Amino acid sequence: MYKEIGVFEHANIVLEKMTPGVFLNTKKGNVINTMIIGWGGISVIWGRPIFIVLVRDSRATYDLIESSSEFTVSIPLKDNLKKEIGICGTKSLRDMDKFKECNFTPIKGRKIDTPIIAEVGLHYECKVIYKQDLDQDIVPQIVKSRYYNKTANHTVYYGEIIDQYIYEKE
Ligand SMILES: Cc1cc2nc3c(=O)[nH]c(=O)nc-3n(C[C@H](O)[C@H](O)[C@H](O)COP(=O)(O)O)c2cc1C
Repeated sequence: MYKEIGVFEHANIVLEKMTPGVFLNTKKGNVINTMIIGWGGISVIWGRPIFIVLVRDSRATYDLIESSSEFTVSIPLKDNLKKEIGICGTKSLRDMDKFKECNFTPIKGRKIDTPIIAEVGLHYECKVIYKQDLDQDIVPQIVKSRYYNKTANHTVYYGEIIDQYIYEKE
């Protein structure tokens, strides 16, 4: 069952849930995937509602989002889903089907192909309208040594929010 919500109505919850983490869902062909993100959030850019996400280029998710230019974000509302966040924040699509591992039900987005996770609660459907690889030459040194020392770079994706709702399994 879908409950309609305003695009900014739950923005405070979104930001609060970035720690411990929310689910970033992607799809390429018949392959679906989800991973945990802790950085990003809802914002307004060019007069549009935008969900910003940062994805390292080492993630399987990176290949999927690069190919589809769309994503959904699913945010736990009732259940904190600690075990599932642990799995989806450490295991890769290259190791396992995380939807199966977590007993998650994918439901096709209302406006895009990428699914949401039926068990999770609050959902945003997004189309990438801009992206940018972080320029390591101008990243602050303190951030660089902590987050980018020999590790993969982040790409920042600006996903225009084209649908948002709460979904409850019947
Ligand atoms: C709390 C938490 C927050 C995370 N935030 C991000 C993030 O913002 N961006 C990112 O690229 N990876 C982040 N990760 C790591 C990915 O979720 C993890 O590497 C995942 O296994 C990648 O899956 P994939 O290879 O199937 O895409 C986070 C992990 C945790 C536990």
